[in-house]
Amino acid sequence: MGRQGGNNESSISFAAVLAGLFFVVALYCATDPFKHSAIADFPDFETYYVELPSWSEIPTERDSDNLLQKSKIMFKDEVQGPESVAFDPQGRGPYTGVADGRVLFWTGQSWTDFAYTSSNRSEICDPKPSILSYSKNEHICGRPLGLRFDKKTGYLYIADAYFGLMKVGPEGGLATSVSTEAEGVPFKFTNDLDLDDEGNVYFTDTSTKYSRRNFLQVVFSAENTGRVLKYNAATGETTVLVRDVYFPNGLSLTKDGSFFVFCEGGKGRLRKYWLKGEKAGTTENFALLPGFPDNIRTNDKGDFWVAIHSRHSTLASLEAEYPRLRKFLLKLPISAKLQFLLHIGGRPHAVVVKYSAEGKLLQILEDSQGKVVRAVSEVEEKDGKLWIGSVLMSFVAVYDLH
Ligand SMILES: *[C@@H]1O[C@H](CO)[C@@H](O)[C@H](O)[C@H]1NC(C)=O
Repeated sequence: MGRQGGNNESSISFAAVLAGLFFVVALYCATDPFKHSAIADFPDFETYYVELPSWSEIPTERDSDNLLQKSKIMFKDEVQGPESVAFDPQGRGPYTGVADGRVLFWTGQSWTDFAYTSSNRSEICDPKPSILSYSKNEHICGRPLGLRFDKKTGYLYIADAYFGLMKVGPEGGLATSVSTEAEGVPFKFTNDLDLDDEGNVYFTDTSTKYSRRNFLQVVFSAENTGRVLKYNAATGETTVLVRDVYFPNGLSLTKDGSFFVFCEGGKGRLRKYWLKGEKAGTTENFALLPGFPDNIRTNDKGDFWVAIHSRHSTLASLEAEYPRLRKFLLKLPISAKLQFLLHIGGRPHAVVVKYSAEGKLLQILEDSQGKVVRAVSEVEEKDGKLWIGSVLMSFVAVYDLH
């Protein structure tokens, strides 16, 4: 009896401690007195419900050999945060946009400055030891993300996260503005683009609320102000093709130009937008991905390579379904960086997938431990090699397909 009584007492005090602890955490979360949480600086931050594909629909294929670990690391510490990797119409390059706002060109021997998007560059844009230290000045120095050459004119089109859609001639230098707004709403986070044969540009603006440096807030909020747009080369007008998209990201035309595919980052799927034929102007699902995508590029055969920055995880699914739980977790004194790491499954993990033009999964390559390729933003296939860039890496990884 005595022992049992003791147990009762300790369980009562345990319950009291738990209740007290809960009260303190709840109070902390309600007020965040030390402004430690990931959303402390965003008083208007709101979380929304996300309808993710069900687990049974998500592809389960894995690359158990972790083939991406066979990639060769190139240009280590010579390029910081190379998101997009492009070759010019003569096949020279690559060209890539880096964290300090420049577009660099690999001559075959060395990297040279090719272009930049900001007319107001100063020493604040100088190279820094860490990729993350650039974000403070991105709105001044520029941040080129998606790159594409117009094969006819040789112009390079740039989706700059802060300055909108831009272009620069084959001689390089300061890029000029092509488009900065649609329907009177300025772009806030221009992300990727592609061109058709007439020189029209299709591109994405990830959010009209948050800029690139706050991409975690877009992810965590699940706000859907993202837009897919068209710049009409003949009229100079920009129109909205698809609105209310949660984190639109990469975009790529199919080889025959009859449709383009864009990444719906927040939902982990690819959407198809018809440009020609009787379905022109309509969208439909193209493929459900094994994770959350970044950029997408077409190879010579017309297949699509998609860069996946993280697989679906149980936590991400729970957070999608329960926005209030997500808000509660975000109010804990955990940094945005750590929240994101938990969200993507605890550690960086590179996945690239190839889909046919019909939306069939053809190939999957991974580095599930993030040993060699920690993250991927884009995959560009050229001459049997995959050129892999990432905003989080200070190198380009090259994977030999043979
Ligand atoms: C130009 O850059 C400086 C910092 O180097 C900044 O203070 C100033 O606001 C910028 N001007 C414009 C027009 O962006």
